[in-house]
Amino acid sequence: MIYIAPSLLAADFGNLEAAVKRITDAGANYLHLDVMDGAFVPNISFGAPVIAALRHRSKLIFDVHLMINDPVRYLDDFVKAGADIITIHLESCSDPGTVLREIRRREVRCGLAISPATPVEEIIPYLSQIDMALIMTVVPGFGGQKFMPDMLEKVRTVRRYANSQKLNLNIEVDGGLNAENTPSAVAAGANVIVAGSAIFGAKRPKSVIAAMQKA
Ligand code: DX5
Ligand code: ZN
Repeated sequence: MIYIAPSLLAADFGNLEAAVKRITDAGANYLHLDVMDGAFVPNISFGAPVIAALRHRSKLIFDVHLMINDPVRYLDDFVKAGADIITIHLESCSDPGTVLREIRRREVRCGLAISPATPVEEIIPYLSQIDMALIMTVVPGFGGQKFMPDMLEKVRTVRRYANSQKLNLNIEVDGGLNAENTPSAVAAGANVIVAGSAIFGAKRPKSVIAAMQKA
């Protein structure tokens, strides 16, 4: 099963409730929530209070992508806000293993992300401790960037390793995904597709999501 995770970053921030309803009606599986601190990445987006406010209005799986330094400081806030999955960046902390254990201890699913510059070998040792590997297909920080097809080699490597170890691992790709390039990501082994501009920018998000799910 392919899960489609529209990224709220591309929504109209003046009317988030309507935006979430729109993609829910269009068949979204997850809601991807990009948290940026202006330090780990150059941009600032939104934090736990916004997620908490949406939690009361949505039953989607809340997929929280933390692009913040030292994420362990804020885990309780995001769990309280209603995160179902918390993904941290390998590059954002000195001891990712400990942070992943802290996420699990709070009984939410945990993910680990790598940015384009990070070699895939660095995520391999953690795959047995996580529910989801996030392979970034753009440099994190902004929506609307161009998909980097070279990153699919990382997806293949992670999927091959997960299969060889019989790990039940979700592999998420994030950045520049659309209905045209989703089949290549799925063929490489990804099963969670994040898309911001391709879905929120569409006249009929339902057909975009349906096309992606068919990949
Ligand atoms: C980038 C974010 C992405 C982004 C995706 O830092 O992690 O989730 O919002 O947006 P699009 O699909 O427009 O590239
Ligand atoms: Zn993201």
